[in-house]
Amino acid sequence: MKIFFVTGNEAKFREASLVLGEFGIELAMDRSHRKIEIQSDNLEDIVNNALATICTGDVSEYFVVEDDGLFIDKLNGFPGPYSSYVYRTIGLTGILRLMSGINDRTAYFKSVVGLCGPQIPAKLFIGVRYGVIATEPRGSEGFGYDPIFIPSGFNKTFGELGLEIKNKLSHRAMAFRTLGNWLLGGR
Ligand code: IMP
Repeated sequence: MKIFFVTGNEAKFREASLVLGEFGIELAMDRSHRKIEIQSDNLEDIVNNALATICTGDVSEYFVVEDDGLFIDKLNGFPGPYSSYVYRTIGLTGILRLMSGINDRTAYFKSVVGLCGPQIPAKLFIGVRYGVIATEPRGSEGFGYDPIFIPSGFNKTFGELGLEIKNKLSHRAMAFRTLGNWLLGGR
């Protein structure tokens, strides 16, 4: 079985491919569709809207889109759905500055993966990973906020833990694993 992932993000694609590979599902990067992103505080709304522009009428292939974000408790969930913009503007340094003097550094990553395809209604799969925000960036693996996110139960950041461990426990791995289970039997 083959699924097209509508994304230009190579790192997300690599992580999702490895997870779906566990199910024997091939993932291909689809650059022919554009992921249309509405502005919303809700990741599910963003993904549902993106899916609606990809699976219009009958389709002959399976497509997935994903949206995710980092939600920091003491910043009332900021940057959340705006994670990409915030990363590009104030970056890790800006987030660490906003967090300076804050002891409760709990945060979570949330991934919402949307699937549509022939003879199936659009469906969402969700993964959440809790952790804390580090006091400084550590590690060079991964992407985005990986160098400042320490998953619960570990004392290293995703950037230090590397892809193999990240893919066992990340929000994205959880969402794509749920999708794999659903497609291969759990429907
Ligand atoms: P979007 O889902 O492409 O809008 O991006 C959300 C943003 O959240 C990304 O640009 C990254 O900066 C960040 N992000 C999402 N997932 C991860 C992750 O697994 N590690 C680190 N940062 C992430």
